[in-house]
Amino acid sequence: MTQKIALVTGAGRAEGLGFATARALAEQGFHVFVTARTVAQAEAQAAALVAEGHSAEGLRLDLADTDAFAPLAERLRTEHGRLDALVNNASVFPDMGTPTALDASAADIRAAFDVDVVGPWALTAALRELLVAAPAARVVNLSSGAFWQVAGLADEAGDVGAPAYSFAKHTLNALTLMLAAAFRDTPVLVNAVDPGQVDTHPELGTDDDDVPPAEAAKWVAWAATLPAGAPSGAVFADGERVG
Ligand SMILES: NC(=O)c1ccc[n+]([C@@H]2O[C@H](COP(=O)([O-])OP(=O)(O)OC[C@H]3O[C@@H](n4cnc5c(N)ncnc54)[C@H](OP(=O)(O)O)[C@@H]3O)[C@@H](O)[C@H]2O)c1
Repeated sequence: MTQKIALVTGAGRAEGLGFATARALAEQGFHVFVTARTVAQAEAQAAALVAEGHSAEGLRLDLADTDAFAPLAERLRTEHGRLDALVNNASVFPDMGTPTALDASAADIRAAFDVDVVGPWALTAALRELLVAAPAARVVNLSSGAFWQVAGLADEAGDVGAPAYSFAKHTLNALTLMLAAAFRDTPVLVNAVDPGQVDTHPELGTDDDDVPPAEAAKWVAWAATLPAGAPSGAVFADGERVG
């Protein structure tokens, strides 16, 4: 059987959800492109998976460097001819302490949109032919419960904390719908996953409600391997449709 190919963005931190997702997909037999902002990060995490007996390789991929996407697509086309799973996991959280939309700086808004919206959008578009060439490719966008702060304003006025991050994740859900529509005549399904509260930054402390990265990654890998006929354009949390 032909080995399935996956690419995970922002997978350069051992404690991060990207790396946990890369491992979960590798455990299912995927050959995983473990990507990160630096070659050293990407190769170190890929080597960790290979040392566990998995099939993986590291690649530098900076979501803010959209010019690099076409050469990446060409490399994947030459080497594999298709991509079975794309996990848009990379993210920045530039404005954690910003209390309202009126306090957001233009730099933070741009940073959040560059990595959380423009990057996944342009990367998915650059890889479209490879996704369509796979028998049942899945694209998963890592959303966040933060999007509800924006989506919920229609029902109840309130402040949106971390407004650049929250609005970028809200927009990512809308992008998920648009990409799902654009792939509608193909086998490609595009969905978003809200991973919940995940213990990916233990150096900041662990809350009682935090789930381990491996637990959250199970649901990301689940969305990356949905069967034919599953929803496209949805938002999932713990395997349940929430949007
Ligand atoms: N952890 C949670 O509780 C939680 C909750 C809701 C949603 N999420 C979402 O789940 C995903 C993973 O969460 P996490 O906590 O593991 O995230 P994270 O560690 O904060 O960030 C994920 C990775 O994105 C990378 N990254 C940042 N800018 C990049 C760029 N320009 N190009 C490529 N990679 C870049 C970071 O790389 P560096 O290591 O180089 O900084 C980091 O390894 C994110 O999309 C996040 O928004 C997480």
